[in-house]
Amino acid sequence: MAEKLIYVLNGPNLNLLGLREPEIYGSDTLDDIAGMLEDRAQEIGCAIEMRQSNHEGHLIDWLHEAQADGAQAVLLNAGAFTHTSVALYDAIRSIRTPVVEVHLSNPHAREAFRHKSFVGMAAKGTICGFGARGYLLALDAAAAL
Ligand code: DQA
Repeated sequence: MAEKLIYVLNGPNLNLLGLREPEIYGSDTLDDIAGMLEDRAQEIGCAIEMRQSNHEGHLIDWLHEAQADGAQAVLLNAGAFTHTSVALYDAIRSIRTPVVEVHLSNPHAREAFRHKSFVGMAAKGTICGFGARGYLLALDAAAAL
């Protein structure tokens, strides 16, 4: 049987992880997180497709692609687009592939403008506030769907 494929999509400014406000987002880079996910994916028999873009449309195209590719699920950290993007809300609702929302920080404990999540309103579930480890928790959750 083919391995389960999980897309891991990362939005704006997450390419700067490790340098960007480490007191909020931690010192792991996105490459570090990719490495942790690869290790965990091997343990649980999944394949991951990890990407990052600063452009909203790329994230939308990749959500569509995840479904066309037969992915089991998508982990999505949409960065600030989480709080602004009706287009991402529509994209998630447009595909049958379940989406797990991930955030390193806990947006609910931060500025009021981060309390609304268009991604969360359409996602299967959300993991936030556990730093880089949240991606691993989300991978386990996604693999078990
Ligand atoms: C974030 C939280 C968002 O509010 C913020 O805009 C980000 C990162 C997180 O992973 O904690 O860019 O998604």
